[in-house]
This record gives sequence, C-alpha cells and structure tokens, in this order.
Amino acid sequence: MNILGIESSCDETGVAVVSVEGGGVPVLRGAALHSQIAMHQAYGGVVPELASRDHVRRVLPLTEAALAEAGLHREEVDVVAFTRGPGLAGALLVGAGVACGLAAALNRPTLGVHHLEGHLLSPFLSADPPRFPFVALLVSGGHTQLMRVDGVGRYEMLGETIDDAAGEAFDKSAKMLGLGYPGGPALSRLAEHGRDDAFDLPRPLLHQPNLDFSFAGLKTAVMTAWKRLGPAPTEAQKADLAASTQAAIVEVLCTKALRALRETGLDRLVVAGGVGANARLRAQLNAACSRRGVRVHYPELHLCTDNGAMIALAAAMRCQAGLAQLGRDYRFSVRPRWDLALAGEA
Ligand code: KG4
Ligand code: ZN
Repeated sequence: MNILGIESSCDETGVAVVSVEGGGVPVLRGAALHSQIAMHQAYGGVVPELASRDHVRRVLPLTEAALAEAGLHREEVDVVAFTRGPGLAGALLVGAGVACGLAAALNRPTLGVHHLEGHLLSPFLSADPPRFPFVALLVSGGHTQLMRVDGVGRYEMLGETIDDAAGEAFDKSAKMLGLGYPGGPALSRLAEHGRDDAFDLPRPLLHQPNLDFSFAGLKTAVMTAWKRLGPAPTEAQKADLAASTQAAIVEVLCTKALRALRETGLDRLVVAGGVGANARLRAQLNAACSRRGVRVHYPELHLCTDNGAMIALAAAMRCQAGLAQLGRDYRFSVRPRWDLALAGEA
C-alpha cells in the first residue's frame, strides 16, 4: 500500500510517499520539502497569509517530485493523507484541499492526520526504530509535552507547558539577541562559543513535583539580562547569554523527561519535534539515559522539523493498526487547535 502524505501546517510544505506491506516496517519511498524560512525571515516570524499562498505555489510540484523519487505514478497511490491540524488555518486548508482534490480525482480515500502524531511516530522511520511502550518528549515551536505512548493512538498526556513552548523559548530569546528567525538553530550555534553558567537564569518548575513546563519566566529573565548588558554587548557576552539560555531550557527538558521515565517505570524515550534537533539536548539526554539503562530514540535529523514523511508514516501506521478513518466524501475541514488524545476522531 502506497500512502501519499502532505504537510502544510506552518512554514514548510512537505510531500512524501511511504509504503507498507501488511504488518511490515513502513518504508519511505520518496520525499520533497520546501522551507519558507527565507521568505518569513524579513518579518522576523511566520506571516500566516504569506505561508498559505506559498503552500499553494509549492504543493503540486513537490507532489510530482515526491512521486518521481518514489518511482510511482499517481494512480499507484492508495491513500492520500494530509495534516488536518493543529496549525495555521489557512495553511492547513491548502494541504487539505489539494489532498482531497487529488484523492477525488484518483477515487482514493483520504486520511486527516494529527501533526503531533506525525512528530511522535517519526522515529519509526529511523535506522533504530523504537518499540512500544515509551515516554515521548515532544518539543516543537508550538508544543512541549511529555506523553506515555502505549501504541498507535494510545497516548496519555503526562505533562505539558503552561505557557510558552520550548521552541518558542529558543525563538523569542534568539530574537532578543538579534539572531533572526527561526532562532533555535542560530541560538544553539552561538551557544557553542559561550559559557553555560555565565548568567544565572531560572529553571521554571524544575523542582515542582509534576511533569509540566513553563518558559515564559525564563524569557523575561533573558530580556532583563540582555538589557543589563547595555546598548553594545560584545560577541562574547552574547554567546554567554545564548549558552546560559540553552542550558536552562535543556536542563528543564532533561529533568522532566527523566522524571517521567521514573514515574512510568518505562525504559524507552522518544524525542521528537524541531527542538529534538538540538545537539546539547541530545548529548545531555543520551548521557543521563545511558547511566539509567534507558534507550533514547530520535527521528533522523532531517525528519525532526516539519516534513511530509511523518504525515505519510502516521497514516500508514494508523492503517496498519486498523485505526484509520478512511473517507471518500472529499468534503474537508481542518482543526487549527486539536487535542492529540482526539486524533482518531473524524
Ligand atoms: O517541529 P517544528 O519544525 O515545527 C513545529 O511544529 O513547531 O519545530 C520548530 C521549532 C522552532 O522553534 C525552532 O527554533 C526549533 O524547532 N529548532 C531548534 C533547533 N532546530 C529547530 N531549537 C533548538 N535547537 C535546534 N537545533
Ligand atoms: Zn511540527
């Protein structure tokens, strides 16, 4: 079975084809991606209307490219999957509209996929796929969640952010430091030249006996430290602040992920979402988990940030688990806000 997946929830247009045979391992056959980062950079963040218009321009050529790489003709597509939410409404509508139009023309079923389920399952396309059950640390630009995952569609929320997401903390701090958008990768590059302990930044909720996160206070502390540096901070001071900010975010994420493992008694951790690409987070989690006999799984680096492969994969795994609500009605709606626990609902 060949599943075409279309992702258009934010600032990446991604299309990919994943194939599955029976209960076998899903295989990524072809993928194409266009990032809108360069276009949004001038505005310091994602401009939703520009994002939607760019998805319109990119989605069909990317679909052709993904099919060509897979060596498939469009008639060989069995299911057309798309990101139904959460995300920007206009951007989601583009992917949903194209997916349903294509499926109607081919007389194939469609499947709306939850974006976070895509992130969560993306390590199953890696060379070292996880096994259920596991704890998932989902860290993206819009979400920071710890979940217990017992199988496809069996997700129990253990804790989440009560304000900003981890990626937002990276992005907003980077913006203050004049590092542009998206700030995560830039802040982490600058941090390589700085000292982690140069600034005493807060670790919000670190010692609270729960699995929730809060990053808004950290952002304020970074702003205060930044202002104290005066109008012309040196490169070394900037690097120190970047390193201290990254250290604070990473320490909180690591501590809470380890607590979740302890509380659930599970010995497997999956880290997914854009912030999962962060080298310091990976190094710290790897070290702490190997001391405790916990296996850590990540998606391949190119599948950490948004892409079509994770959407096709989530659809494929839902089909395999008998959980796919395949529709042939071709009317569509999107869910800009959508709880992952309700991902299986039509
Ligand atoms: O998962 P994603 O591509 O999009 C959302 O669903 O939000 O995540 C994007 C987020 C951005 O906040 C970006 O700054 C962050 O992931 N990010 C990173 C790194 N690469 C991407 N944050 C820290 N270090 C990185 N290397
Ligand atoms: Zn994402």
